[in-house]
Amino acid sequence: MNIVLLGPPGAGKGTQAQFISDRLEIPQISTGDMLRSAYAAGTELGIRAKAIMDTGELVSDDVILGIVKERLQQPDCTNGCLFDGFPRTIAQADGLVEIGAQIDVVLELQLDDQAIVERMSGRRVHEGSGRVYHIKFDPPRKEGVDDVTGEPLLQRSDDLESTVRERLRVYRVQTAPLIDYYRNTDAKYLEIDGSGTVESIRDSISEALS
Ligand code: AP5
Repeated sequence: MNIVLLGPPGAGKGTQAQFISDRLEIPQISTGDMLRSAYAAGTELGIRAKAIMDTGELVSDDVILGIVKERLQQPDCTNGCLFDGFPRTIAQADGLVEIGAQIDVVLELQLDDQAIVERMSGRRVHEGSGRVYHIKFDPPRKEGVDDVTGEPLLQRSDDLESTVRERLRVYRVQTAPLIDYYRNTDAKYLEIDGSGTVESIRDSISEALS
């Protein structure tokens, strides 16, 4: 099964993706995490992408489709994938069709801008794994460190309020058209209210998927 997790920045895609991926036993493909890993590894692609990400704009469709195509060739993708933060443009969605990856389910997480800004300002991430926390709403067991590895948690450089507002603008212009795009395909389209607790949203997703 191929699933697309759609929704504005900070709606909780990464948080819920970890649970969906475990439950359905399909890998999570997060283009944002892949770009951040490329930057952490010091690759040229990663360094160029980071400069774009820090402005809140999107990395080019060619680059994104290139890394996704490569990822889909790995054996763990045989039974499907959970796409988190991809596709982000109509061109990326068309690119996925050209690769031959049919989307079965689209899960749209909905959340208003005010809640998004509040969530982003308290977000902390574990760089190595992409695990996500929130200082108030979803804190780690020990302040400032990852539950699994004990390594320090970081604040993302694109979580500044001005950058978050630009990311929201970019979402409306470039990504939101995918809502109508996927409604007009054979994929099952599921809307999820992203405003509850992490657990209640997890339950709604679980119910919707079953
Ligand atoms: P990316 O990393 O994909 O970021 P995003 O889509 O903007 O989404 P986020 O990761 O910011 O938010 P999320 O919805 O995953 O929320 P989270 O679960 O973390 O992309 C970053 C950049 O990379 C882009 O701007 C672009 O430049 C580039 N890029 C990536 N993919 C691209 C593509 N395909 N094409 C072009 N460019 C691309 O939750 C947020 C916070 O809220 C956390 O602290 C969490 O703990 C907390 N939280 C979650 N759920 C709840 C809840 N229910 N209640 C309270 N708090 C909650």
